[in-house]
Amino acid sequence: MQLPRLLLTTTFRLALIYLGLFLILVLFLLGFVYWTTSGVADRQIDDTIEAEITGLAEQYRLRGLGGLSDVVAERSRNQRYSLYLLTGPGGFALAGNLNAWPDAQSGAAKPDAAGWFDFSYRRPVAGDFETHRARARHLLLGNDFDLLVGRDVEERHRIDQVLRASIAWAVALTLGLGLLGGIVFSRNVLRRIEAITRASRDIMAGDLRRRLPRSGSDDEIDRLAGSLNDMLEEIERLVTSMREVTDNIAHDLRSPLTRLRNRIEVTLLKEASPAEYRAALDETVAEVAGLLDTFNGLLAIARAEAGRPEGTPEPFDLSAAVNDMVELYAPVAEEKALSLTGDVVAGLTLMGFRQLMSQALGNLIDNAIKYTPEGGTISVTLNRGELIVADSGPGIPEADRDRVLDRFVRLEASRNSPGSGLGLSLVRAVARLHGAELILEDNNPGLRVILRFAPDSLDGAPR
Ligand SMILES: Nc1ncnc2c1ncn2[C@@H]1O[C@H](COP(=O)(O)OP(=O)(O)OP(=O)(O)O)[C@@H](O)[C@H]1O
Ligand SMILES: [Mg+2]
Repeated sequence: MQLPRLLLTTTFRLALIYLGLFLILVLFLLGFVYWTTSGVADRQIDDTIEAEITGLAEQYRLRGLGGLSDVVAERSRNQRYSLYLLTGPGGFALAGNLNAWPDAQSGAAKPDAAGWFDFSYRRPVAGDFETHRARARHLLLGNDFDLLVGRDVEERHRIDQVLRASIAWAVALTLGLGLLGGIVFSRNVLRRIEAITRASRDIMAGDLRRRLPRSGSDDEIDRLAGSLNDMLEEIERLVTSMREVTDNIAHDLRSPLTRLRNRIEVTLLKEASPAEYRAALDETVAEVAGLLDTFNGLLAIARAEAGRPEGTPEPFDLSAAVNDMVELYAPVAEEKALSLTGDVVAGLTLMGFRQLMSQALGNLIDNAIKYTPEGGTISVTLNRGELIVADSGPGIPEADRDRVLDRFVRLEASRNSPGSGLGLSLVRAVARLHGAELILEDNNPGLRVILRFAPDSLDGAPR
């Protein structure tokens, strides 16, 4: 993973923005701490010098130059950090622990209005000399006498340096750790996005079974991948069903079409009477009508499966639709000496496609009538959650119950009865379209087909 791409990620940019804000805060805080501590120390030094000057001025007032000179000499002996110098006319040193008045050479600037100035001086330390920084105040005593009272600020200066270095380190560390964190985070995100990109490429290359990887953390990337996977699931289902339809057309419609062509060719081979031609044409028309039915059936199933059937979904009276179908098939059932009964809860409304639902129910009743031997019973039941068609026929073996829902699947047992094997496929597509579960059960004896609607999808008057 190259670095520049990493730096372009949104995560990294966000991390940078946060880092910037954090850095400003850190700088502000440390700066505040520095200026307060350092400022307090500076003020303390000035206060000490000030106090000493006041004391010495008092001595001068009380005891004159000689007294002041004694006190300065006395203090110069004991004090470690205090600096004194009393000079007479011509800058001649009278007392103190400084040899000479600090000049420009020792870095001393001109004293400010109150007489304060900074300088450096050479201090004897363990038999050697060290250059130390100092701060002092200059007091004019009159008659060309001058007094300097100061303090060695070398130690204070070193502490200051340590403080500054600590601040610099803290800032550098914040910056370094922040950048590192940003890189690690963006790398993590980038890696996951790249995994998703790779998976998408595989899917685009035709691997429709592939799904986007999820980390299991259920964060926003995971949830996005989850929704995309749901979408892929749906797309795969649709593509598979489309592929099945084209396969079906190729395989199952080719033989009837071939048969049709053969019959026409055979008829054309020899001279025949008009009556014979008519008969052949009649057969051809019947066959074409069958083919058209199959085509329309396939189309209806494909559209229902794709969720785009003809018409718009609207609420309709399911109870009435079921009663209509039972009534419609009553004569056919009677003809075969079957008892067809309806047990329908009135006034149930379903949101969906009435025409398709009726067609699906018709297919189920048609199957029951077709496959149940004479004298059997068929019952159609609609309650608040289910639509059930049950018969007393041979039923479908458990092993075949999934398979019969596919297009063109007909069981061996029904070879002699007419049909194309599309009836249950449409039922399945219509059930799914209406959010209902399709269940095939043993009716002991016979088959029981249940359309179980989602809870509350059937509206109706209270029981
Ligand atoms: N009530 C039933 N009892 C016994 N077998 C059934 C019943 N319903 C369906 N089957 C079996 O399931 C197969 C598929 O049924 P389906 O309705 O899809 O097709 P079909 O009835 O053969 O043809 P079509 O409905 O397209 O005219 C049937 O061929 C039959 O073998
Ligand atoms: Mg059928």
